Amino acid sequence: MSALFTPLKLGNVTISNRLGMSALTRNCSSNTVPNEIMKQYYEQHALGGAGLIVTEGTLITRQGTEWQDAPGIWNKEQIEGWKRITDSVHAAGSKIYSQLWHGRTQNFNQPKPVYGPSAIVARGGKFHFLDGTPGYVTAAINVKEARFDGVEHGDPQFMAPTPTLSTSSSTPHPTSAPMNGEEVWKIVHAFALDALKALIEVYGPDVALKLSPAGGYNDMGMSLQETIDTFGYLLHEVNKLRLSYIALVCYSAIDPEFEDEKPATPHDVVETYSQFLPNTHIFINEGVSPDEAEEIVSTGKAAGIFIGTNWIAHPDLGKCIQAGKEFNNIQDDTTFYVIAGSNPAIGYTDYKEAVY
Ligand SMILES: Cc1cc2nc3c(=O)[nH]c(=O)nc-3n(C[C@H](O)[C@H](O)[C@H](O)COP(=O)(O)O)c2cc1C
Repeated sequence: MSALFTPLKLGNVTISNRLGMSALTRNCSSNTVPNEIMKQYYEQHALGGAGLIVTEGTLITRQGTEWQDAPGIWNKEQIEGWKRITDSVHAAGSKIYSQLWHGRTQNFNQPKPVYGPSAIVARGGKFHFLDGTPGYVTAAINVKEARFDGVEHGDPQFMAPTPTLSTSSSTPHPTSAPMNGEEVWKIVHAFALDALKALIEVYGPDVALKLSPAGGYNDMGMSLQETIDTFGYLLHEVNKLRLSYIALVCYSAIDPEFEDEKPATPHDVVETYSQFLPNTHIFINEGVSPDEAEEIVSTGKAAGIFIGTNWIAHPDLGKCIQAGKEFNNIQDDTTFYVIAGSNPAIGYTDYKEAVY
């Protein structure tokens, strides 16, 4: 029997298998409001065998985004839109977490600074200033009202709330006096842990965290020692919070480059950080194949896995894996992010299921 297709209790909910769909921004809302085609998309993936779906990064405020049509969760209309999605995912037998999102760093060429924990601009950063004030607690309350099963505190490559990095976090405000390294780390860790504790106050045990200690996207990256010290300490503290899971994103060979530099920090994140997480379910993400997934879960290396990109062209990915089908659809990378004015179904909801 496949270990991957056994249930697992995460916080207050039980997922039917260990195969998650990780957050995938698709840029398809109607002016930040979740719409009918998004409902079809999430329902397809729930019916396609995802034990747990994590939504695309969901904005907590209008500002601090790269994607104009990413959905939000700061007003009633958005909550109602999400409710239709969570209800249809539940009816299809799956569970769904909301991934909360706010641009991590300042940006170049913005008329006003984006609210965020970092005073340093990110090379390649694209977070826009638009009106609005971030509010994680309000967003978490709204997530609950929208009947999500939990909330994932997003990956710092994309988001604000875990400013763990020396490259993304200096003083909390650009006009503050310079601080020494130890002072910086205190603020950095306190911010990340406070954000998680605030989410736990609203959501109890159904709060999760995604981390990419080896990642270089959006100008992340530190020396190996600094990376291990930073994430090791953070995860040691996070383990005490008894989150429902932690998703660890492994090093990707598709490593972004800035000014001829690759800021990512290659190392084995599962081997390095599992020791800090004895109380927490670990999910592994990044380029995991079906065979590796089965091996990871059956050997107890992790409680589950997340797949991202392959879910885009294979809405029935879970059923495919369970039935031993090949991933036969040809993925079109140009439709990863729905382009305003184009037919949103193309490359979004029109990929065919396998024949069973
Ligand atoms: C089109 C696209 C959009 C993504 N959007 C998000 C996002 O909103 N939040 C996030 O944490 N990760 C995002 N990711 C990263 C994926 O969740 C996942 O971590 C990554 O693709 C590695 O998994 P994979 O190798 O199975 O694709 C995105 C990836 C892709 C390809």
